[in-house]
Amino acid sequence: MIILGIETSCDETAAAIAEGRDGQVKILSNVVSSQIAIHQKYGGVVPEVAAREHVLNILPVINEALEKAGINLPNNKATKKKTGKKIDAIAVTTGPGLITSLLTGVETAKTLSYVWNLPLVSVNHIAGHIYANFIDKKTNQIKFPAIILTVSGGHTMIVLMSGQGKFKTIGETRDDAAGEAFDKAAQLLGVGYPGGPIISKLADGFIQAGQTNLIKLPRPMIYDKSYDFSFSGLKTALLYQIKNDKNWKNRIPEYACEFQQAIIDVLIHKTIKAAKQYNAKTVMLAGGVSANTQLRQQLEIKVKNELPKTPFYIPDFSYCTDNAAMLATAGYYSALDKKFTLWKKIKTDSNLELK
Ligand code: KG4
Ligand code: ZN
Repeated sequence: MIILGIETSCDETAAAIAEGRDGQVKILSNVVSSQIAIHQKYGGVVPEVAAREHVLNILPVINEALEKAGINLPNNKATKKKTGKKIDAIAVTTGPGLITSLLTGVETAKTLSYVWNLPLVSVNHIAGHIYANFIDKKTNQIKFPAIILTVSGGHTMIVLMSGQGKFKTIGETRDDAAGEAFDKAAQLLGVGYPGGPIISKLADGFIQAGQTNLIKLPRPMIYDKSYDFSFSGLKTALLYQIKNDKNWKNRIPEYACEFQQAIIDVLIHKTIKAAKQYNAKTVMLAGGVSANTQLRQQLEIKVKNELPKTPFYIPDFSYCTDNAAMLATAGYYSALDKKFTLWKKIKTDSNLELK
């Protein structure tokens, strides 16, 4: 089965083609048009600007994805790379995200579903991030129940996955998401946008240089009984520390390293605790922040030490931040279960819950 995935929930216009065969999903093409350069000067995503960019980009991005995968259109218009393959269904992010951004993807998917007479699958963006872990794996390789630490710019959640498409959120942030905290810390340290990759690089450099971190920031809610998080106080703690440190501008990598470690410590502590409580058969990492090298390495080591029999999976770097390959993959598993939505009935919901 071949799925066209479409993702426009925030500031990336993305389309991808996934092929599911013999219980395994392969990505035939993965096209992402990033708007980072456009939003950089504002220090964050401007919804109206993002929406307009999506409208301009969506069709060229879809065309490129089809062309790269060598997919014939349903009217049999052949691509240059003649594979003879055709799309069987369209999967689109219907939420959560910026409503004005989501609408471009959903309206496009609806139109294509109607014109090409193809079934449509509604995909939750967070489920998409989780399904990035299923790419290139045998379906039965991921055992349930699974615990997934899902960390992005808009969400920080510990998710219990009990089967294909069956999710329960057991903990989430009460204020800022982990990625949002990285972005705000980068703003305070004056190092640029988007903050996650920049803080990550600064911290990696500091660690590789073998320097000692003398800064101490709190680990919010680490010993709280719930699986919830709170990162807004951490950002305030960083603000006060740099205000009281005349030398802070010469210690930026050290601040970045400690800020990142404070977030990692809390995320890892709660993920391991949840995996033990729910007898997880798999632990996974998902979302944009899963591109963080220290988080990937430290969580892997911790799972190996504390849960040696439990496999740990992380998405390939190309599938961590927003993309449509993850969407097409999630769509494939929904399509296997015939979870289709009629184009007339598909709904966009900026606060869509993961269920
Ligand atoms: O999943 P994503 O692409 O978009 C949302 O769904 O929000 O995540 C984007 C977030 C941003 O906050 C970005 O700063 C963060 O992921 N991020 C990182 C890294 N790469 C991206 N955070 C920490 N370390 C990274 N290497
Ligand atoms: Zn995302």
